[in-house]
Amino acid sequence: MIKGNEVYNIILKRRSIRRFKQKPILLDVLKNFVNVARLAPSAANLQPLEFYIVNDKNLCSKVFEALSWAGYIKSEWTPAENERPMAYIVILVKDNKNTWYLRDASYAAANIVIAAEGMGIGSCILCKIDRDKLREHLKVPDDIFLIDSVIALGYKAEQPVVEDIADSVKYYKDEKQVLHVPKRKLEDILHINKY
Ligand SMILES: Cc1cc2nc3c(=O)[nH]c(=O)nc-3n(C[C@H](O)[C@H](O)[C@H](O)COP(=O)(O)O)c2cc1C
Repeated sequence: MIKGNEVYNIILKRRSIRRFKQKPILLDVLKNFVNVARLAPSAANLQPLEFYIVNDKNLCSKVFEALSWAGYIKSEWTPAENERPMAYIVILVKDNKNTWYLRDASYAAANIVIAAEGMGIGSCILCKIDRDKLREHLKVPDDIFLIDSVIALGYKAEQPVVEDIADSVKYYKDEKQVLHVPKRKLEDILHINKY
């Protein structure tokens, strides 16, 4: 029996992870992540998404080449060879009949990163992608409408911390290389019964 606050606490704990231990993730675990994505809400239940697991070492390197990491701290941080993700789930949109396809993809991604956190696996959703390069590397057929996003996965080699926003949304690394992620305060975004 799941206690009421377990999922809540998992969501509180999840941060985007960009440094990973070089320990493989079992394929069955990756398939479970796709399974929770499959079951995510979908507008009109049209389910336009497909999912591409990449865990082959060479293919992982190819995916890595098409990604862009941590825009705000790019100049001071690039993922080292020995801290790269161990797997990726690429979210594909097969057609745009459903105009809400981006939302479908977002909910699927959310399910994946929350499920991953619940299993102690770190993740990062990436949308700044060289989509042409990735399509070529992964041999995604031309009739697939869009590569929406890539979710990088692996056991965590960093523990970012969340803090209340002071004056900037920009995440930053401190002198100990800990990533700090500023978030807007609850009282600044919440309206109860009146604005
Ligand atoms: C739609 C979307 C696109 C993102 N694209 C990237 C990306 O291309 N590269 C990256 O390093 N992080 C990317 N992120 C991760 C965000 O930078 C991260 O969610 C944000 O800094 C807040 O940190 P948190 O996830 O730890 O709460 C993306 C997140 C979202 C939701």
